[in-house]
Amino acid sequence: MHVFRDYYNNEVKLSFEKDPFSNMPMHVLVICKYQDKWLLTNHKTRGLEFPGGKVERNETAKQAAIREVKEETGAEVADIYYVGQYHVEGKGDQVDKNIYYAEISELIEQPTYYETDGPVLLEQLPKNIKQKRNFSFIMKDDIVKRSIERISKQFNN
Ligand code: GTP
Repeated sequence: MHVFRDYYNNEVKLSFEKDPFSNMPMHVLVICKYQDKWLLTNHKTRGLEFPGGKVERNETAKQAAIREVKEETGAEVADIYYVGQYHVEGKGDQVDKNIYYAEISELIEQPTYYETDGPVLLEQLPKNIKQKRNFSFIMKDDIVKRSIERISKQFNN
């Protein structure tokens, strides 16, 4: 398990075990790859981040992941894999979030991207992401870095 502080100095715990913090996580984050590029969304207030959001009633976390990717980027998920889970001890609330890795088969233009401005494809994530004002705070802690290291090992990419 990895324990660290996030951009807002909240404590974050990350584990690559199955359901280490909750077997009913209410949030998902989906690290997406499309044609050898990372697929992100541009959230209207937070900035660039991997797609994700809240699990709705009568939906599994994996179903929420597939839905959020479609809503925020227009992408069709071809394959999706559980990567890990993290727990954020916020000032007022706690969040348990599943991390998935999704391979995208196609991008279909949508009439709306909800609270985002839609898909953004990047060949590489910037090294100095913490200093980048156009990136969301959820991209600025060790979650994305460690998850991508893990995905690279598992999927050779
Ligand atoms: P709404 O209910 O939609 O208004 O959401 P919210 O703004 O209350 O946020 P949410 O329930 O998604 O998360 C609550 C708090 O948890 C946020 O203010 C963040 O501090 C923290 N949080 C949520 N997601 C993440 C994440 O991916 N990474 C980190 N580090 N913190 C997060």
